[in-house]
Amino acid sequence: MSFPLHWTNWSKKTENTMTLDQARNEIDRLTDQINHHNDLYYQQSRSEISDFEFDKLLERLIQLEGQFPELKKEDSPSQRVGGTITKEFETVLHKYRMLSLGNTYSQEELREFDARVAKGLENQAYEYFCELKFDGVALSLTYENGLLKRAVTRGDGTKGDDITNNAKTIRSIPLRLKANVPSEFEVRGEAFFPLKEFERVNNEREDVGEERLANPRNAASGTLKMQDSKVVASRKLNCFLYYLLGDNLDYSTHSEAISAIESWGFNVSPTYKKCNDIDAVIAYIEEWEEKRHDLPVETDGIVVKVNELSQQEQLGFTAKSPRWAIAYKYKAESATTVLESISYQVGRTGAVTPVANLRPVLLAGTTVKRASLHNANEIERLGLHIGDTVHVEKGGEIIPKVTSVETSLRNPESNPVEYITQCPECGTELVREDGEANHYCPNEEGCPPQILGKIEHFIQRNALDIDKLGPETIKGLLDNALIENYADLYDLTFEQLNGLEFKIYSEKKGDYSIRSLREKSAGNIIQAIENSKSIPFERVLFGLGIRFVGKTVAEKLADHFQSVDRLKEADYDSLIEVPEIGDRIAESVIEFFQEDRNLRIIEKLGLAGVQLHHEAKEQVVEGNNLENRTFVISGVFQQFSRDELKEKIKANGGKVVSSISGKLDFLLAGDKMGPSKLEKANKLGTTIISEEDFLNMI
Ligand code: IVH
Repeated sequence: MSFPLHWTNWSKKTENTMTLDQARNEIDRLTDQINHHNDLYYQQSRSEISDFEFDKLLERLIQLEGQFPELKKEDSPSQRVGGTITKEFETVLHKYRMLSLGNTYSQEELREFDARVAKGLENQAYEYFCELKFDGVALSLTYENGLLKRAVTRGDGTKGDDITNNAKTIRSIPLRLKANVPSEFEVRGEAFFPLKEFERVNNEREDVGEERLANPRNAASGTLKMQDSKVVASRKLNCFLYYLLGDNLDYSTHSEAISAIESWGFNVSPTYKKCNDIDAVIAYIEEWEEKRHDLPVETDGIVVKVNELSQQEQLGFTAKSPRWAIAYKYKAESATTVLESISYQVGRTGAVTPVANLRPVLLAGTTVKRASLHNANEIERLGLHIGDTVHVEKGGEIIPKVTSVETSLRNPESNPVEYITQCPECGTELVREDGEANHYCPNEEGCPPQILGKIEHFIQRNALDIDKLGPETIKGLLDNALIENYADLYDLTFEQLNGLEFKIYSEKKGDYSIRSLREKSAGNIIQAIENSKSIPFERVLFGLGIRFVGKTVAEKLADHFQSVDRLKEADYDSLIEVPEIGDRIAESVIEFFQEDRNLRIIEKLGLAGVQLHHEAKEQVVEGNNLENRTFVISGVFQQFSRDELKEKIKANGGKVVSSISGKLDFLLAGDKMGPSKLEKANKLGTTIISEEDFLNMI
């Protein structure tokens, strides 16, 4: 594509106050500091600075690299925060095939494997190396001259997807190795969603009305295939390495290779053990049967490997798997019990979740009384009747789930569970929108758990941070008619709170008792409410509780629209223009601002002094080439994300607008741009430029 001639004549004046040398020095210093703290955290589980201080260092590095792109290093730690968009993952051939392992399910089968090994090795002495079998996504990492070059998924074993940019956001995967390492090698392992992190992400999703991710393994796999590496970075995946490959490596046993990769800085799970014979392997299996549930990752068995590499070679491979290694699978932790009843919980967004109440049963070391049933589809899929004998399993989620029904034991008199049609809390007729798995109670204003949930969401630490107000106090405020919604919090006075009486429910006693708020707590609450007035706009926006607007989405919307007033005016087209914002979110935002009640609440927040617009950010200045020029950005780009392009336009004096009009100077067009935009730009004769054209301009 050609671009206007006058651009080429523009001078490349920059207004950086720093010289290139100064910037290089600072970038080097920041890089060393960040790498040092990262290593400390991931290899020694220690930290010398707070997360906040760490983020500040990273932020400064990113800012400098934005200003001096020529100084950005291939292994810069800034890649940990993501930002690159991969449109399509390139398929690459594995240098060494990625095979799977044979499975065994009993000690007997394991002893048969041992007999085959003994026979194959013609009575030489041999030993085993045992590891846990991590249930994640197999990854192959290639390093050249100490630098991470490529991260590839298993794919079909012969070729996989190149997901390097996404893998670089996994902080325990070294981008550069410090030690003296072989010039080229491959290391394999399992990327996984740490269970705590999985729970955190799911709670966040539930909080904004999104479906929970089904299980940590699928979620890890889905995450690594996402286009926006920033989202991958936000999910804090981890990776355990367990296999070293290369052409001229000088190790004679697997255990030596594992010690080597450990010493180079790779994350190796310390759960491995060398075992002299198959009896020791069986003892290892027994040792980990229960203990494995304390690990940060789901495991479904153990892997037994012949330790001596020359013996591995001697044993070789079948078409599908090595003869020198095998997996032993633990039996899924399951128990059989009786479904006594189903309760229905109503969340802040009105979503109804059915929960199975079970006859208490012991499962993986804990007594289980309840299991999640997700939604009506799940109840139908299981074909549940009350009184059924059911199987429950514990997977990666904290709450166990009902996996199947023993229909042969069913009481023939019993009837299938009929899903409720009215809200169990307020009696309102439930609705279920097309394509949604959940039923909703539409009575936002009058349904107690929704009212309470919205206030709890607003005051949480990630939002307005008034969490000194516990759920009981909020209930007390609602019961005493001191508040009806979160905006009313700003009317509260110390006198109203001091001595306020509220009920506390004790599960043990099965009854309520009365408490009253002390002077000190009342003062703390009033202070926290006052402090919340300086919470930045994006957190307030999150706190408003718009369905599907989680923390990250709120940040994107706040960044794009800068104020509630502009967001309120935004139409569907300008909303979906924002990266990551799709139909569902756009419709939900529009719906929220159509409600008079919400507009009144926002007005009240504004009058109270809550931040409803962005503080102007310190603007990076790169030049003034684009002065007085307006841009619309649309589509997916190769080198930069839309947010980065926006920053670049602003840093060079240009302006980003959201809709195409006759006054618009340029449409910066990436792939997958909407056809209607293109049509409009063509009709108005707008100059359409590519990412490359744009980079030439600046
Ligand atoms: S070794 C040639 N070790 O299990 C075999 N694999 O079913 C190399 N896995 O594809 C694999 N933990 O994704 C090995 N400690 C471990 C493992 C492990 C999990 C996975 C891996 C492999 C699959 C085989």
